[in-house]
Amino acid sequence: MNTQPPTPSLAVIVVAAGSGQRLGFGIPKAAVPLSGESILLHALRGVAAAGVARQICVALPAGDRQLADICATFVAELARSSAGVRGTAAHPAVTTVDGGATRQDSVQSALAGLLEGTEKVLVHDAARALTPASVFRRVVGALKAGAVAVIPAIPVVDTIKMVAPTEGSAATMAPEVVTGTAVRGQLRAVQTPQGFDVDTLLRAHATAVDFDVETAASITDDAMLVEFLGLPVHVVVGSTQSLKITTPLDLVIAEGLLEGPLGARWSEG
Ligand code: C5P
Repeated sequence: MNTQPPTPSLAVIVVAAGSGQRLGFGIPKAAVPLSGESILLHALRGVAAAGVARQICVALPAGDRQLADICATFVAELARSSAGVRGTAAHPAVTTVDGGATRQDSVQSALAGLLEGTEKVLVHDAARALTPASVFRRVVGALKAGAVAVIPAIPVVDTIKMVAPTEGSAATMAPEVVTGTAVRGQLRAVQTPQGFDVDTLLRAHATAVDFDVETAASITDDAMLVEFLGLPVHVVVGSTQSLKITTPLDLVIAEGLLEGPLGARWSEG
């Protein structure tokens, strides 16, 4: 149970404008059912449960009625949960914006929709719908301690290698060849929510406008943009519960976490 009041100048951006083709449902990923309710509704409840923000700004696919209705359901749920409870802090404002063609475009669109006076922002993937409140609080804690960029991450269990397409006659042996092996102890699998000082993130996104096509395509998270500015990105402990629901197997695991025996075993911080 969170006993800390929300930070007045903090907003959480939830990006939910992806197509979710890899899940294969033919609908946006955020609308895909997870134990009978949409991934987006689970994600929004998780953000609210963390109790850290005064605004939740959701980027949705432009014109998507179903996801807009899910946001409206969530707002009604929030209103019911705080109605009539004396001393309860007002629930966060929930706003929506049209997402863009890429995740980065969706974040930019949401940044433009933040309430005046917002100083810190967390950027969270709706697809990480089961992220525990403790992870949100660790990220906010590092921001409050003075970090300008914070990411949650967990150690990597696989050995990670760099590869290139095999050239010449060797291509008959195998399609790719190893070009290097990363030192596993130095690697982390990075998650969301990623936390930022708003001015820093705005500056980082503004710089990205001038990137060439190849560099732009290599950007997979917001922290990378801050790295390009030469600023430190601090790392706090993430959680295996924060898995990004991407493939049908991830859905099975997420449902196992919510309802099955896995749930009892995996309630970790
Ligand atoms: O596609 P991927 O799983 O990397 O997407 C990560 C998150 O970014 C998802 O929550 C997805 O909805 C969001 N996204 C977005 N706008 C896009 C592409 C992805 O908001 N154009």
